[in-house]
Amino acid sequence: MCGIIGYIGKDKALPVLLDGLRRMEYRGYDSAGVALLDEGKTTVVKRQGKIVNLAVALKEHPPAGHLGIGHTRWATHGVPNELNAHPHQAGRITIVHNGIIENYAELKAELKAKHHRTFLSDTDTEVLAHLIAVERDTTKSLEAAVLAALLQVEGTFGVLVLDDQEPGKLVAARRGSPLLLGISADAIYLASDATAVIGHTDRVVYLDDDEIAVCTPGKYDIIDFEAQARQHEEHKIELELGAIEKAGYDHFLLKEIMEQPRTIADILRGRLDLEAGTSRLGGLSDPQIYHDITRFLTIGCGTAYYAGLLGQYLLERLTGLPVDIEFASEFRYREPIVDGRALGLIITQSGETADTLASLRELKRRDIRTFGLVNVIGSSVAREVDGGMYLHAGPEISVASTKAFTAQVIGHLLVGLQIGRGRQLPITEGQAVVKALQALPAQVQSILDQRVHIQKLAKKFARHKNVMYLGRDTLYPVALEAALKLKEISYIHAEAYASGEMKHGPVALIDPDLLVIFFNPKNSLYDKTRSNLEEVRARGGRLLLVGTEGDESLKAFSEDIIYIPDSSPYTQPILANIPMQLFAYYVAVERGTDVDQPRNLAKSVTVE
Ligand code: F6R
Repeated sequence: MCGIIGYIGKDKALPVLLDGLRRMEYRGYDSAGVALLDEGKTTVVKRQGKIVNLAVALKEHPPAGHLGIGHTRWATHGVPNELNAHPHQAGRITIVHNGIIENYAELKAELKAKHHRTFLSDTDTEVLAHLIAVERDTTKSLEAAVLAALLQVEGTFGVLVLDDQEPGKLVAARRGSPLLLGISADAIYLASDATAVIGHTDRVVYLDDDEIAVCTPGKYDIIDFEAQARQHEEHKIELELGAIEKAGYDHFLLKEIMEQPRTIADILRGRLDLEAGTSRLGGLSDPQIYHDITRFLTIGCGTAYYAGLLGQYLLERLTGLPVDIEFASEFRYREPIVDGRALGLIITQSGETADTLASLRELKRRDIRTFGLVNVIGSSVAREVDGGMYLHAGPEISVASTKAFTAQVIGHLLVGLQIGRGRQLPITEGQAVVKALQALPAQVQSILDQRVHIQKLAKKFARHKNVMYLGRDTLYPVALEAALKLKEISYIHAEAYASGEMKHGPVALIDPDLLVIFFNPKNSLYDKTRSNLEEVRARGGRLLLVGTEGDESLKAFSEDIIYIPDSSPYTQPILANIPMQLFAYYVAVERGTDVDQPRNLAKSVTVE
């Protein structure tokens, strides 16, 4: 979703802002803009569409200045046009804003009636700009005006504010929308995403909710909403610029799929103990936890939810504990009955998804212990959970999630191993799971090596209008995830069902125009699944099969087969998903869609 960048320092601000905006392009946006403050005057330039449009507009008369803010907007209030793009101005005040001002309509009416303010855009952000401007008339500093305005606001915000009459200062504030400060000797960078500051500095401070940062070149002060000073620990970000570049691939998505052997090795590193048949997770080191908890409650959205759904099968088998799972967007308002001894598992790549974060807070309000499976280091979820593990998948730039899904599923296996071994899981079974995990990077590589074959299949099927994915047991969540990936990046309508459910309705859809992607690798339900396959064939369905290497019998059903290595039932679903990532990717390329930034989608959904 929207991206924010700010700079105050000794260098020219414009290149820093444009570079930061480009690095956050992956989040999805529909307009972009910058504002630079120089000699007491702020120049705003914004454009609809991609950053390249903005860059062209800036080329002829690049605004000068060592202080500036920039924004990529993903429209919430008002259509994605130039007027609604950020930054927004109200007299001497200029702002960029992520989040949603929920009471903007009331505030706007009051600003019009009482202060005779006129508005150029349909946005909630312009209302906030006017509110700060009105407050600035009666307060003695910009930060005091920002505080006074934000105290009247309901909703969420990550906001950067400039004041023409305080040209040496950049003020930032946050509630529910991420914001970090990058610190160097003579500059402060502000960003909603660490990728925007990599290469400039590795020193960061994460702003908490209801905090305001007052920045001058190389210095900052943080106050809370009662104007009291706050101290923050500085963190070192380990990311390198290479991690957010395409490394020779045509798309980030392909890079992220192809680098999975390494990211899997990274998540496992130092966490497996073959002799004891277990994992070692610092966040679960208290042995009491194995006996205290009575069930898991897993929360996530989208792909993270599907990883949790697959985790339900895996965790129940490893730990003998029941697992409930909910979409975060449902959980947060449902007033659910939650067992006080449940362990809340919060699954999220970004650590900033608004519904997931709100559900985490709801669990904490009810004194439920929480554990995060989080990728982005220092993200809000990572900082607010009671314990957790980082997924170490590295930055996921492409909007559609691939390597993070794989890491989330492995995360469930690591949690399940440790809690299971602390409870009833026999050592031999634990050791078998450890061995299966150790074998994963090479097995995944062997599937990635088949990409030319998968690309041919994608070419063959790319023009289908409807696709149905069928899988059973752990392969049912894989079917759901595979269907989501295809629809997200290729815009083909795709559905997924548990294959045993097919004859309860979806079978009516089967005809030669429907592509059915069917998972039938060797496992304990192989024969039962086979009868579902017969049912599809009997109705003339077009089949693409995913099976186990060496299973020649599948050829009787279709000539289109992707083979995966024989594996443990715990890692089979991970392997079965990998060719589906490649398939979705190549179908999208074939159809010429915007693979890394599919239409209407945003990375990290920070609004409800
Ligand atoms: C799908 C996708 C989304 C995210 C979902 C949750 O490819 O990327 O469905 O999985 O928005 O995001 P996180 O994991 O960041 O909470």
